[in-house]
Formats: sequence, C-alpha cells, structure tokens
Amino acid sequence: MTMKVRKAVFPAAGLGTRFLPATKAQPKEMLPLVDKPIIQYGVEEAMASGCDQILIITGRGKQAIEDHFDVSYELEKMLEDRGKTDLLAIVRNISDMMHVAYVRQKEALGLGHAVLMARELVGNEPFAVLLADDVIDAQVPCLKQMVDVFDKTQCSVLATQIVEGKMISSYGVLDVKPADGSFDGRLYEIKNMVEKPKPEDAPSNLAIIGRYILTPAIFDCLAETPAGAGGELQLTDGMRLLLQKEKMYAYVYEGRRHDTGDKLGFLKATVEFALKRDDLGGPFRDYLKGLKL
Ligand code: UTP
Repeated sequence: MTMKVRKAVFPAAGLGTRFLPATKAQPKEMLPLVDKPIIQYGVEEAMASGCDQILIITGRGKQAIEDHFDVSYELEKMLEDRGKTDLLAIVRNISDMMHVAYVRQKEALGLGHAVLMARELVGNEPFAVLLADDVIDAQVPCLKQMVDVFDKTQCSVLATQIVEGKMISSYGVLDVKPADGSFDGRLYEIKNMVEKPKPEDAPSNLAIIGRYILTPAIFDCLAETPAGAGGELQLTDGMRLLLQKEKMYAYVYEGRRHDTGDKLGFLKATVEFALKRDDLGGPFRDYLKGLKL
C-alpha cells in the first residue's frame, strides 16, 4: 500500500532571538508579511499540498498562534453587526481552514527535539515538517513539489537550494549523487549531511532549507541522537542516522525562498509581497520609485 503525506508539523517553539526586540513578547511566526502572519503562509502551503492535519509545536509566549487559528467570537460579531462582510469572510476563513493541534515543547532544546514532540500525534505515517520562517513563493507550492517526489519514491525528501560562498555555513549541507529517473535533474540521492560546516568543509553547495518530508522512522533516530552543537538536539543529526537505515532524497525545488526569521530577509519579503498585491502594488511601486536611493 502506498503511503500518503497527510500531516504537517510546524515547529514554532524557538525563541526568535534574531528578531529581538519584536519577538520578546510575540512569536516571530505571527509577524505579518504585508497583512498575513508568516505561519499562515506555511499552513496554506501545507493545505494546498494535500495535508489535512496541522500540528504546531509551541512553547511559552506562543498563545497568539493558537488564538489566530481559533474562532474569534467578539471580532466576528462586531464585523457582522457593522456589515463588514468581506473582513468577516477573511477572519472566518482562517478558523475554518482545518483542524489544528498543538503540542508544547517545554524547553527549546532544538529543532530535532521539537520534531520528536510530534511523535504521538503523527504516529506511524510519513509527515511534512515546515519551518514557517522560510516563506517560499512558488507557482507550484514547494511542499507539493516534494509530495510528488514522495508519492513516487516513498522515501524521505528534503528540499534543497544552491547557496554560494560562505553563507553555506549557516545551513545543513548535503553530500549527494544524482538520482535516476525523472524530475528534470532536480532529484538527488543523499549520501551524507553535515550541520553548519566551515565553507572549506562543505561537501557541496546544496543547503537544506525549511521543508522536509520524513518517514516515521525518524522518531526512533531522534530518540537515539545525543545533543549536538549548542547542546541542542539537531534534526540534521537525527536525519544522518535515518540515512543509515533508509534511502533519502534531496529535491531542488522551484521557487523563491525568503528567510523571514532574519531582519533583512523579512524586509525583502515584505517589499516583494507588497509589490505583487493587486490592491497595494501600484501605489507602493510609485512610492518606492519616488525614494531618492
Ligand atoms: P531557528 O534556528 O530559526 O531558531 O529555529 P529560532 O529560535 O526560531 O530563531 P533565532 O535563530 O533565535 O532567531 C528553526 C525552527 O525550529 C523551531 C523554531 O521555532 C523555528 O521554526 N525550534 C527551534 C523549535 O521549535 N524548538 C527549538 O527548540 C528550536
């Protein structure tokens, strides 16, 4: 029987230190790109890729995420009373989106640890992991591209992107060989991976980005993995163990990724998304043109 990816896990328990002070009392996942919180872009991507269950790993100070996907009776009533039907539809649409479950990660012990928190609710089936701050603008949603690979291979699939120069040291990096078959030369079989190598030690220029499809065998691997760099349980270390047991693929996705967990990345994404909007794009473009840069 072929397995399907139905569940999407969003680790959102990190402290967001790169975005202080904005993230002191609010989750970075709730920072808006134009007018929509970052995490909603990811949830919409998961839904458009065939997932029908969302699991968000939260921590202290993340209440706003739960409130965002919940019903807001007072707000709905007020909008209804005032006849603001278009806004009411937007607000209702979010809470109607789908069932969202939450698990607390009591301490921020690393991305691998956050994924391990999903074990009980995911159970024995493949699942997607999306890091909300990687917002990916793509014609075919990035996760959907990966699901297509999974449907064919039934193996774990990591999204990868070419990163040139020293910046490669900020990522998990893949050692790969080209995979047989279709996918326009975008598919690789993974031989090994290292977390944040020095530029001279990087096995390639293929960086792991914030989209993963993993088989449930990852949970045993994470449970066996000792804490790594910075005392955190690294997802990359767990995946390296998984690689010893199963074949894994890397897919060079088509699309444009914005690292919105970084201040400059966030600003660039804001400008690009605003320029694409029907309601804002024109006046915003005129404004930018008028700036003496
Ligand atoms: P980041 O490396 O972006 O860390 O985590 P961070 O804490 O969110 O942000 P900075 O670097 O301090 O600014 C990658 C993803 O893993 C989640 C984060 O929420 C983010 O989505 N994460 C990280 C957890 O859920 N738990 C952790 O213990 C660590």
